[in-house]
Amino acid sequence: MSATKTAARTEPTRRDFLYVATGAVGTVGTLALAWPFVDQMNPDASTLALASIEVDVSAMEPGQAITVKWRGKPVFIRYRTDEEVAEADSVELETLKDKDARNQNLGPAVDATDLNRSAGEGRESWIVMIGSCTHLGCVPVGLAGDFGGWFCPCHGSHYDTAGRIRKGPAPENLLIPPFGFVSDTTIKIG
Ligand code: FES
Repeated sequence: MSATKTAARTEPTRRDFLYVATGAVGTVGTLALAWPFVDQMNPDASTLALASIEVDVSAMEPGQAITVKWRGKPVFIRYRTDEEVAEADSVELETLKDKDARNQNLGPAVDATDLNRSAGEGRESWIVMIGSCTHLGCVPVGLAGDFGGWFCPCHGSHYDTAGRIRKGPAPENLLIPPFGFVSDTTIKIG
């Protein structure tokens, strides 16, 4: 088939164009109408403040992990040992199933290095993640699995000590929520 014939076949007719244009106007109209309702449903500042939590991690030792609840979801906080950090740091990016850090503190399209998955420079031992398997949302078990990180028993997904998917059906690394240290021993999530 020649290029000309292909072009002729895919070019929209005037009737198609009118239909598309009408559809676009309809969408804008719907959005404009919906906005006041969405705006009313936005939480006020006090509700937003409650949407953040602060966690005292002063009692945690290297090798320990806790789970806290934030906005109705489990959040894993793990204080990794030097060996666990070194092991995760030695993994070649090319071997990862999901090469994206999935770290909401760093933005999109950032490499899933161990540092980018951790709490950052100087706090590489700390990792904070949403405890929801990226396959179908089960809560993975910590300090388990073939890579010593987390294991999801629902369908057998294995995450490493940086929470990166290494084996099993889960497509993505565990999501890292917005968080930061507000003192040497307090983590604020949200
Ligand atoms: S929900 Fe975790 S492996 Fe399916």
